[in-house]
Amino acid sequence: MFTAIIFAIAFVAASLANDVKAPTQATTASAAGDVFVAPPMPKGAEGDLIILGKQIIENTHKYAGAYAVASMSCEACHNSAGTKAHAGSLVGVYAKFPQYNSRSKRFIALQDRLAECFLYSMNGTAPPFDSREMIALTAYIAYLSRGTVVGKGAPDQGLIAFKAPQAPSVPNGSHIYATKCLACHGANGAGSAAFPPLWGSTSFNSGAGMHKLATMAAFVRYNMPYGSTPNTLTEQQAYDVSAYVLSHWRPKFNGQRIITFPPRKASFY
Ligand code: HEC
Ligand code: HEC
Repeated sequence: MFTAIIFAIAFVAASLANDVKAPTQATTASAAGDVFVAPPMPKGAEGDLIILGKQIIENTHKYAGAYAVASMSCEACHNSAGTKAHAGSLVGVYAKFPQYNSRSKRFIALQDRLAECFLYSMNGTAPPFDSREMIALTAYIAYLSRGTVVGKGAPDQGLIAFKAPQAPSVPNGSHIYATKCLACHGANGAGSAAFPPLWGSTSFNSGAGMHKLATMAAFVRYNMPYGSTPNTLTEQQAYDVSAYVLSHWRPKFNGQRIITFPPRKASFY
């Protein structure tokens, strides 16, 4: 199954990179099981915009650097440009919006949800609704969602949540971190050019989804240590190491920050 996933991901990457029609009978995104099959990539300006959205996810600082502060790309949590199941998959997500958001107590559009990940996970600022970055991200997620039933999303692609068997132990988590995470994420949790930070000034802030213990444990158990088969850590180990990671200092979300969506000239459209 893993080979199939890797093949599917390589296939998605190849079809996006070359801007060619995918040689498949699929006309819509398919997320049956864990394998994502890319729909054909539109040609011309539409395809260019979708590819820009993918590039922002893969290399956020290069393509949307004005809005990102945390030293990572969206892909650090939305693996394989958002196409990997149970790893922050964005497949089908377009069909989940607009949706009621319990944090802000209002109906939100996909753009609002994207803004949230910029504000919290990237510890940055929200691109304006009408910015090319925001439209490109929306176009890419819509592309990943072709054929998904509105209101249904792609529930089988989400993080696999579970409860901690026992109260999480930070000291035990520290031991797991030293043996299974430190080599890539560093002794001070700051990561490196190749690996994203887990805590400290360059990490996501305290309002991020990944700052919830259950969310991080679900992500870590299925996806970390990077490159290993899913679920190599036990449920308890995933909670313990996540509790250790979250016991460190990180930027606090500043709710007082002013957010503006400046108007543009009509020629923009
Ligand atoms: C530090 C980790 C992290 C980073 C970095 C991050 N996100 Fe997220 N994002 C999350 C988590 C966690 C969720 C909630 C997923 C869940 O509840 O299953 C989420 C949710 C989302 C959703 C809604 C998905 C849904 O199923 O409703 C979108 C869209 C999204 N992120 C886009 C982005 C974009 C675009 C970026 C980069 C600008 C980004 N994220 C960066 C962790 C991150
Ligand atoms: C072999 C290197 C490696 C090891 C070991 C490793 N990681 Fe990661 N980790 C990564 C990479 C690479 C990413 C980004 C994934 C991507 O871009 O596809 C990542 C992403 C993450 C993220 C989400 C992004 C962020 O920075 O917040 C968390 C949380 C995480 N790792 C936790 C852990 C934990 C906990 C362990 C130990 C159990 C661990 N990792 C072990 C390489 C590693």
